[in-house]
Amino acid sequence: MKDLAGKVAVVTGGGSGIGRGIALGLAAESMTVAIADLRLESAEGVAAEILGRGGRAFAIAVDVTSAESLEMAAKQVAAETGGVNLLCANAGVLARMASLDDHTMEDWEYTLSVNLLGVVKTVAAFLPSLRKCAPDAHIVTTASLGGLLATGGLPISAYVASKYACVGYTEMLRGELVAEQIGVSVLCPGVVASDLMNTSLKNRPEGFGRQAAPDVVPERGEGDTSVVADTSMPAEEVGPIVVNAIRANRFHIFTHPEAAMAVEKRFRRISADFEFAAKAVEKG
Ligand SMILES: NC(=O)c1ccc[n+]([C@@H]2O[C@H](COP(=O)([O-])OP(=O)(O)OC[C@H]3O[C@@H](n4cnc5c(N)ncnc54)[C@H](O)[C@@H]3O)[C@@H](O)[C@H]2O)c1
Repeated sequence: MKDLAGKVAVVTGGGSGIGRGIALGLAAESMTVAIADLRLESAEGVAAEILGRGGRAFAIAVDVTSAESLEMAAKQVAAETGGVNLLCANAGVLARMASLDDHTMEDWEYTLSVNLLGVVKTVAAFLPSLRKCAPDAHIVTTASLGGLLATGGLPISAYVASKYACVGYTEMLRGELVAEQIGVSVLCPGVVASDLMNTSLKNRPEGFGRQAAPDVVPERGEGDTSVVADTSMPAEEVGPIVVNAIRANRFHIFTHPEAAMAVEKRFRRISADFEFAAKAVEKG
């Protein structure tokens, strides 16, 4: 989708961090942006920010773990705008920063319900609208560099597993939708300034082990994702990167190109294992 002006976008998790950055970037391209978030007041804040800059936006409440809530959101957006050209399935959580031993089943369930099934449900809810707009239609899911690299040094196993799954799902989606001329991309950010651990704690429902979650976000230096806040990318910089990649219909959208070396190292490790297997086959 090359021409974004006048088109309609939905951004889940748009009330904060990267979602806000994407929403601002899309609004700057003269898109109408539906800011969809579990926390309606945050979504309203971002919509107001966009309106204040002369853009077009409105806020909607949605819980991406609920197909019913997403259906209602899709209807609301269709009623307000008539259709959806761009879906950014961005809402995500970081439930736990601890060793695998200390990950509870609720940590796994909460993480996968938002980061994987939440994306799957979001796409399912908005795909009928997107199909009506094709070929002016594009989907961006938000995974992470942690969806390509499991060796970042942070103890976030459930998160990494969910993001690997998100990358795999999105790659399949791109293959399936190419014939319908719907573009699909996966955003794999490095560290971006946001409130991920805090919102993940605050938003965590009872059913997903609210009680089991730590009461206090760790101090910086003890495992907080904002550990690298000093060097992290401002969320506003993500918007133009996403816009650029949508126009070029790139699959992976990277915010930190310097991470290429680490990914290449991973591919070399995979290649080495293939070589090992090939030698084993040769030997019979
Ligand atoms: N910040 C980073 O360094 C970083 C790096 C890589 C990937 N990501 C990914 O970027 C995405 C955005 O995260 P962020 O860092 O901007 O964090 P954030 O917490 O600032 O934003 C996430 C937003 O999603 C919303 N949300 C959470 N659960 C929801 C649900 N069930 N339904 C609807 N909305 C929900 C939150 O209310 C919040 O507004 C996530 O998918 C995250 O995994 C972040």
